[in-house]
Amino acid sequence: MTTIHKVRKAVLPVAGLGTRFLPATKAVPKEMLTVVDKPVVQYVVEEAMAAGIEHFVFVTGRNKGVIEDHFDIQVELEATLRERGKTVELRSLEDMLPKAGATSFTRQQAPLGLGHAVWCARDIIGDEPFALLLPDMVMHDKVGCLAGMVELYEKVGGNIVAVAECDPALAHKYGIVGKGEALEGGFQITQMVEKPAKGTAPSNYYINGRYILQPEIFDILSRQERGAGNEIQVTDAMLKLADTQPFSAYPFAGQTYDCGSKEGFILANVAFALDREDIKPLVVQELQKLIAKA
Ligand code: UTP
Repeated sequence: MTTIHKVRKAVLPVAGLGTRFLPATKAVPKEMLTVVDKPVVQYVVEEAMAAGIEHFVFVTGRNKGVIEDHFDIQVELEATLRERGKTVELRSLEDMLPKAGATSFTRQQAPLGLGHAVWCARDIIGDEPFALLLPDMVMHDKVGCLAGMVELYEKVGGNIVAVAECDPALAHKYGIVGKGEALEGGFQITQMVEKPAKGTAPSNYYINGRYILQPEIFDILSRQERGAGNEIQVTDAMLKLADTQPFSAYPFAGQTYDCGSKEGFILANVAFALDREDIKPLVVQELQKLIAKA
């Protein structure tokens, strides 16, 4: 039986240009846009922490320095909060912070595609499986998406791709997987198709931005072959890896919000606001009024 190595490290590619969200993303990275009171990337780091991830590798680019600052101590701010007895606020800063030495930042230099961003993390990841989390995809559920994936991975090994169900009429907009034999907590993937032509999708399960990948993906990515949009695509590399290694799907039961799109970002704000007892009553009341007028 092949050994299933623990997933200890996660890659968070944050070097994209965020063109779908201009002008907001001209000076502020889209990963730092706020859902209620936390930047998008913090939700994703917390999801990874809850799944037992020990080391966070951020693949950054120009104008993304604020992400590094966000995951550091703010000495003056914290001293002031302490002096003023603002313990709740202070705790909120401490709880989100990965341990010292548990973050690495590497530069992509040019946004050549998601596959290229992942490849930039190769030396920091080394020869072990890793999680890949797209930081603009925010998951909303009681159990984190990555935690569920790790549970499946520890049973079946190989590579795991999280999926969510979409309206079949919209399947042509996504990366879609084919559904094979059922597994406990998932199913085997028979095929992966990036943006299938209308009416040809093998299912309505789309790849929603969370992966557990084996390190052999780096060799494939190092060939730097460009795909759709003239970018180096991670899906193309996964398709090649699937020739020699198993891929399983973890169907995520919660809601996936694409916070790189305006609609997804607004809906994420509403969903997370409704989870918060302190702001929910007013938000519900005002939303009802707005919807009645719309
Ligand atoms: P997206 O395609 O959603 O990000 O990539 P983008 O290119 O920033 O967005 P638009 O389409 O222009 O609005 C998914 C994730 O991969 C990262 C992005 O930062 C995002 O978190 N990414 C993408 C990189 O790190 N490098 C790239 O070259 C491309």
